[in-house]
Amino acid sequence: MPLVRFALAGFGAWGKFHAQSIAGNPEATLVAISAPSEASREEARKLYPEAQIFADSLEMIAKANFDIIDIATPSHTHREIALTAMQKGKHVLLEKPMAITLEDCKAIVAGARDHGVHLAVGHELRLSSQWGRIKDIIAAGAIGDPQYVLVELSRKPYRTGASGWRYDQNRVGSWVLEEPIHFFDLARWYLECSGDPVELYAYGNSRDPQRPTLYDNFSAMFKYANGSYAVVSQTLAAFEHHQTVKVSGTKGALWAGWSGALDRTLDPTAFLKVFDGEKVEDLKLTKQSGEVFELREEIAQCIDMVRCGKRPIATGLDGLWSAGLCLVAEESIRQKKPLPVGEMLRF
Ligand SMILES: NC(=O)c1ccc[n+]([C@@H]2O[C@H](COP(=O)([O-])OP(=O)(O)OC[C@H]3O[C@@H](n4cnc5c(N)ncnc54)[C@H](OP(=O)(O)O)[C@@H]3O)[C@@H](O)[C@H]2O)c1
Repeated sequence: MPLVRFALAGFGAWGKFHAQSIAGNPEATLVAISAPSEASREEARKLYPEAQIFADSLEMIAKANFDIIDIATPSHTHREIALTAMQKGKHVLLEKPMAITLEDCKAIVAGARDHGVHLAVGHELRLSSQWGRIKDIIAAGAIGDPQYVLVELSRKPYRTGASGWRYDQNRVGSWVLEEPIHFFDLARWYLECSGDPVELYAYGNSRDPQRPTLYDNFSAMFKYANGSYAVVSQTLAAFEHHQTVKVSGTKGALWAGWSGALDRTLDPTAFLKVFDGEKVEDLKLTKQSGEVFELREEIAQCIDMVRCGKRPIATGLDGLWSAGLCLVAEESIRQKKPLPVGEMLRF
């Protein structure tokens, strides 16, 4: 079977891991890379001499021969790059957040539908041997019906990103769209049997008076019509990278933790304990958990998506919901009150 040809937009901190994951997959070939700075292009040329290198993503889309574009550029650029590729009939793997406004997210979902192309969104935690296993345990009924989910992260502050985009509200959108978006995605996925969330309330604060709305500490709760609810919480005013998930059901509960010096460490410690109402079991993870490993799975799923139309684990609608919950959370902090969700996210 022919190799699936990937074009990669963005060759920054995370884009380089995308490049490695594509190049490391025997079913894929990395045919083109775009990055605006000469320094990044030079590095891309050295590491991937077979790939065509472009300064401009739109020029790459116009000139390169590829099947799917993998977009790992600053979040405010996602809409234009994704829609341009879709108009050319190309499939898309789009990093989270799929875009920084609801309108942009909806335009991207509509673009995939109207141009008949596949769209996968980079919520790779769903592909984890740890966070994904939790979904399987819930689906198997081991803890009964899930009624409460906590997803929590404490970590060190963010990197600035290329040209400082991550500390510029116009380009990053918000920090809620950076990492808590993964946790909104997981919590909503775990509580899928409760339907759609109906209401959300959030708090946040910042250590820096110059950027009061880029929240170092952020917490949100969202609830469902059946009374189940989720808590998503993050502090960037901490150290290293430590993530916790707790889920309680009508019969039992589970608790998982992941710790590393960095989010991309290759030797994290991780555990997953399940209580079925009678006994606690310490589950052995079948593979390492961590975003670097999950990214490889994400590339593999995109190959199946391109070859046989296999539905990605996180679709455009999932990306829209996750970004939408983040944006409602921002609005809830501004208005200092709980807000309804559902309606503004309907598509
Ligand atoms: N799923 C996850 O777990 C995860 C993890 C990290 C990041 N992300 C997401 O991935 C995206 C990139 O994040 P990052 O950490 O890699 O950022 P980064 O380190 O700042 O890298 C951004 C890259 O995009 C390039 N770039 C900027 N504007 C561009 C454009 N218009 N066209 C093509 N390339 C452009 C930059 O080029 P130069 O190098 O030439 O300046 C740089 O190579 C963001 O949306 C972020 O939220 C997702």
